[in-house]
Amino acid sequence: MTTEVDRLIKILENISLGDYSNDIMAFTTGGHSKSIHRIAEAVGMMMVKIETREFGLRLMVEQLQELNEKIKANTLQTVGSIAKALGARDKYTQGHAERVASYSKRLARRLGLSKQDTHDIQVAGVLHDIGKIGFSDKVFENADTKVSDEIFAEIRQHPIRTRQILQGLDFLGPAVEYAAAHHEKIDGTGYPEGLAGDQIPLGAKILAVADCFDAITTTRSYQAARSTEKALKILKKISGNHLDPSLVETFSEEIRENGMETNT
Ligand SMILES: [Fe+2]
Repeated sequence: MTTEVDRLIKILENISLGDYSNDIMAFTTGGHSKSIHRIAEAVGMMMVKIETREFGLRLMVEQLQELNEKIKANTLQTVGSIAKALGARDKYTQGHAERVASYSKRLARRLGLSKQDTHDIQVAGVLHDIGKIGFSDKVFENADTKVSDEIFAEIRQHPIRTRQILQGLDFLGPAVEYAAAHHEKIDGTGYPEGLAGDQIPLGAKILAVADCFDAITTTRSYQAARSTEKALKILKKISGNHLDPSLVETFSEEIRENGMETNT
């Protein structure tokens, strides 16, 4: 009897550790005392219920993960539509947001950032200039290479406007701050806050590299598009005071290996 109880206890201990073997079933057949038989049957039933519940939970987690991916894809589409509204006002920014988002995503991936961080940075890329939507026509129509103090003051406002437009959208997470800080410079001479070095979030520093590269390699009212190599040289030149040198280095490797974005 003692041996039988000991064996049963051992099996119960194993079950409590998560080992749902069928050993318990041996006690549900004849040849055992009625009490042992009833305990074994109750435990067997409990195991079936636990396993069914665990299966249901696993299924639910899978469904939630799938839903999460769908929400992320929808988020990108939604924010992309908002950004396109800006493209309708300013022909020079058409396609700019998507390219900055792609360059930023590529740089984030190459740096080995997590999926979530990469996603946040990509979203920030799509939305970084959304604050320009409030610009007066004067800014959009200005074709001079030298801008007046008045226009420059308005331009400097756009990251603040970007933050104001996006800050109520909780699902954007840190993307709002990345977008709001994309004109900050490593040496502290950027805007709107004049943040320097590590005060600038990594996501914003990544956006700054992508933003500069796309501005240099596309035709604007004030310049013709520069070649890839010329653009990378300019990035290197402004790294250290404007851009983060190690990010420029990694970005240059990425562009030389996998080329420029071609969507417009
Ligand atoms: Fe900008």
